[in-house]
Amino acid sequence: MRLLVTGGCGFIGSNFIMHMLESYPDVQICNLDLLTYAGNLENLQDAEPYGERHRFIRGSITDKRTVSALVSERPDAVINFAAESHVDRSIMDCSAFVVTNICGTQVLLDACREFGVSRFVQISTDEVYGSLGEDGAFTETCQLVPNSPYAASKAAADLMVRSYHKTYHMDVVITRCSNNYGPFQFPEKLIPLMITNALQDKELPVYGDGMNVRDWIHVNDHCRAVDVVLRKGCAGEVYNIGGNSEFRNLDIVRYILTRLRKPESLIRFVTDRPGHDRRYAMDASKLMKELGWEPSIGFEEGMNQTVQWYLEHDAWWQRIKTGEYLTYYQKWYGNR
Ligand code: NAD
Ligand code: DAU
Repeated sequence: MRLLVTGGCGFIGSNFIMHMLESYPDVQICNLDLLTYAGNLENLQDAEPYGERHRFIRGSITDKRTVSALVSERPDAVINFAAESHVDRSIMDCSAFVVTNICGTQVLLDACREFGVSRFVQISTDEVYGSLGEDGAFTETCQLVPNSPYAASKAAADLMVRSYHKTYHMDVVITRCSNNYGPFQFPEKLIPLMITNALQDKELPVYGDGMNVRDWIHVNDHCRAVDVVLRKGCAGEVYNIGGNSEFRNLDIVRYILTRLRKPESLIRFVTDRPGHDRRYAMDASKLMKELGWEPSIGFEEGMNQTVQWYLEHDAWWQRIKTGEYLTYYQKWYGNR
């Protein structure tokens, strides 16, 4: 199996590449990543022993020439993780979100159409569905009502992907997952930010009243779900992925503080995120019933592992917080 994975140096993409290399002895992966601030080759140090089975190309999914050259090698599938992924950044300036998340997806789709790639997997998000009230969960048939510029860019990409299936009969599948946590998550997202700030005895900024709810899933369970959808998903279908682990932000933050034996006085309530979605919850029963996937890592087990990982990998996140990591790829790849 030869795969073109985009965004493979980010949090989920790097975990996915390791999952595939470890699970399938015959898989070969080409990883196209621009190495934006969120991309980090250190996330793939464990891929080194796999040699040529993992090939890294630095480039953008918006660059037609690079994309065409890689897709012309006719991989068995393209899996698109590449994106601008942080909601707060999209609120500050969403230009890069439109370019990468929407136009980049279109460039990939056109190349896959031109070279007849047999499967395109779009990694999307629960945020395309908007926000929930006190109860209920998103199903695949819910309307798309994205509230942040990030979510709107992901919803637009989903619609482009859908249209290529309807118009050109391309074999596409879309996954929509809830909030991930686990190793190698960039410390701008809630869980790694709170862990690393607490370890540095810095304030923990909680938006609004801290009562917003997210449905958390361990990144390994997400990667296993993408693997199943890649191999068994039906063309043109959407699959929700969720961990069935809903928690309020404040409870997550308190859990981290307790686990690290740090005082609650580190919590600081700050101005709410504009357009802040109140609650997400995923109904993943379609994926479970039709493709036989289910989450395997309970929240407490996953969080304990994750906190431990950040304790043991302080050099990784310290280099990110100081900005030193940005020069790391030059050590590996020179100036190519
Ligand atoms: P991330 O920000 O950690 O990684 C994104 C990666 O994409 C980085 O390596 C970055 O360098 C790369 N990239 C950005 N622009 C690029 C471009 N133009 N060309 C090539 N590469 C580019 O993101 P993540 O959290 O790993 O999310 C991966 C995907 O999963 C995204 O599509 C995101 O929308 C989706 N998703 C994330 C979550 C979550 O909780 N993190 C949940 C559901 C879905
Ligand atoms: O739901 C899937 C989405 O999850 C993905 O599509 C996104 O790529 C990913 O970034 C994530 O989006 P969220 O906005 O839910 O995640 P974030 O970690 O930014 O925030 C989680 C919650 O914590 C949210 O309610 C905002 C809150 N928060 C976040 C930060 C960074 C705080 O209270 N303080 C913070 O400093």
